Amino acid sequence: MLAGAEGQAAKKAMEIVVALGKIYEAEELVPVASVQVAGVSYGNLGQAGLEFIQEWAEQGARTRVPTTLNPAGMDLEAWRELGIPEEYARPQVEVIEAYTAMGIAPSCSCTPYLVGSVPRLGEHIAWSESSAVSYANSVLGARTNREGGPSALAAAITGRTAKYGLHLEENRQANHLIEVKCAVESVADFGALGYIVGRRVRDGVPDFRLNRYFKPGEEDLKALGAAMAASGAVALYHVEDVTPEAKMGKVLANDARSIAIEGLDEGYEALDGVAEEINLVWIGCPHASLLEIEEVATLLDGRKVKAQLWVTAARGVLITARARGLVDRIEACGGKVVADACPIGAPLQEMGFESVATNSGKGAFYLLSHLGLQVRFGPLSRCIEAAVKGRWPG
Ligand code: F3S
Repeated sequence: MLAGAEGQAAKKAMEIVVALGKIYEAEELVPVASVQVAGVSYGNLGQAGLEFIQEWAEQGARTRVPTTLNPAGMDLEAWRELGIPEEYARPQVEVIEAYTAMGIAPSCSCTPYLVGSVPRLGEHIAWSESSAVSYANSVLGARTNREGGPSALAAAITGRTAKYGLHLEENRQANHLIEVKCAVESVADFGALGYIVGRRVRDGVPDFRLNRYFKPGEEDLKALGAAMAASGAVALYHVEDVTPEAKMGKVLANDARSIAIEGLDEGYEALDGVAEEINLVWIGCPHASLLEIEEVATLLDGRKVKAQLWVTAARGVLITARARGLVDRIEACGGKVVADACPIGAPLQEMGFESVATNSGKGAFYLLSHLGLQVRFGPLSRCIEAAVKGRWPG
């Protein structure tokens, strides 16, 4: 491939894989079972990014392993109803077309593991999208580095990645002990905890001891990992008695790398602002599970929303939620379940949104730091109250 025997597109992809291997002193390449490609939202890619992907596709780039896509900046079917401007939608569709020409499934979700791409324990994969990387490594026990968009695409085209970093057993051991002494009971709490720990450990591997009375569910773990990946660069964490590799490299309680978390105020103070009026309530960062969509429908309880309410989810999850009547219940209240999209890549300000409420630590972090919007951050029940009243509940 490197010599060009399989064409120009594969040669370019292998050059990227080999260059990364040299930089990180990898001794060999390893086959990957699946790839998740980021760099999909036109808002982030821009015209130069779109042309880069189109050129690679035209050179004949084709994937060799099952490959899924990160969210776009809009629902690919219902973008008009959401008020997405036509001049944004057109190039966004071209991005998806270029990727599908390479054989990539237009899954457009940051939770590929909720719609069929579920790596096995110990399996080597090459995923981009920091929250998906964290979930795959930590909760599923697969092995991936935090790939960038081009390096993930190169791995998809070659079917291989360089074996370094988190592909190696020795780098998967915990190097920080996080003793959580306070209650952590909701997705928002796990987001606040993730924000605090991400800032402290940066790209380390934290090992959590949680309060024994609360066992985190999948939704809590995805919120925790997403927030740590956003405020720091955590790509792997362990939770005692919960995650599959939690027994690796125990850090002792009296070790200097032991951190006690006495409360979550630091996280809430950093992520929750002061806006009273709320234009948009966003649930589903990372993309919502069926359970989370059901919780939204139940909390709405037939009431009409005043603010816009978007629940973002993978299209496969949306289809199941629709079949169970959950989407109808949310739509009857004026809310929307939005597929394919991440609002961070959407033109929110151009659409007139100024203040957004969310229960996602990662979502709040990016709304504040990347989009400069006013943000309220709190548990799902408060977010739904904000959607109904158009104001953050006092
Ligand atoms: Fe997914 Fe966007 Fe959040 S990619 S994790 S919904 S910031």
